[in-house]
Amino acid sequence: MIIAQISDPHVMPPGRNHLGIDTAAMLTSAIERLNRLSPQPDCVLITGDLVDSGTDAEYAELRHRLAGLQAPCRVLPGNHDERDPFRRAFADHAYLPKDGPFLQYISDIGPLRLVALDTVIPGSLGGTLCDERLGWFAHKLQGSAGRPLIVAMHHPPMLTGIPFMDAIGLDCRDRFAEIVARHRNVQMITCGHVHRTIFTPFAGTVASTCPSTAHQVIFTLSDKAPAGWAAEPPGLQIHLWQPETGVVTHSLPIAHTQVHDFE
Ligand SMILES: [Fe+2]
Ligand SMILES: [Fe+2]
Repeated sequence: MIIAQISDPHVMPPGRNHLGIDTAAMLTSAIERLNRLSPQPDCVLITGDLVDSGTDAEYAELRHRLAGLQAPCRVLPGNHDERDPFRRAFADHAYLPKDGPFLQYISDIGPLRLVALDTVIPGSLGGTLCDERLGWFAHKLQGSAGRPLIVAMHHPPMLTGIPFMDAIGLDCRDRFAEIVARHRNVQMITCGHVHRTIFTPFAGTVASTCPSTAHQVIFTLSDKAPAGWAAEPPGLQIHLWQPETGVVTHSLPIAHTQVHDFE
């Protein structure tokens, strides 16, 4: 199975941009890159901050751009999303819950089970999993024994070492880790929010973040550095899952790549 991941497209309406970056056009570049993949991914996972300020106009532009994607996609919300407009925009995505306070779900992609979590706190940049969401997660993991699964969420469950991003990270890391550690079938926990590629061992599995299709967070490990964005090359990730290997992740730049044979 091939799960492609893109994250944090922060789509804005036509004519608007983020610090000079046309985020909608950059999502289209990512989609063109995904469409050129052969074999095609079984699923494209988009890990939150789908739009920049959560308006219906932004979601309309997002859906307009996503219409060009050949592979099926699964979406989950980030802190820049708004649940109600998000729900309206993706009303045709049957895997999303039709009611209830949170946008978390299970979706099976062949033998792989995707467990998507909603870490949003309305009005906050940081993320959480309250008792209700953690309880749902623990219950779903219990019911998925022996099945290879990938957990996806916007806010990563680990400290990244980038101080200004850790300050707006997930506020329940230990409780989340306790649940994950009870299950050996969690292949990886893959996230967005940090707009960079990061991998770390976590609770007996691997936790990772995916770069943005648009702007990247500046790289710094200094607590004196101010928060900032960088127009570094955007990227995407390809998670190849095979029974013999588990998940193997490839990071790809989003750019037109000229391919030459060795000969
Ligand atoms: Fe973001
Ligand atoms: Fe975010």
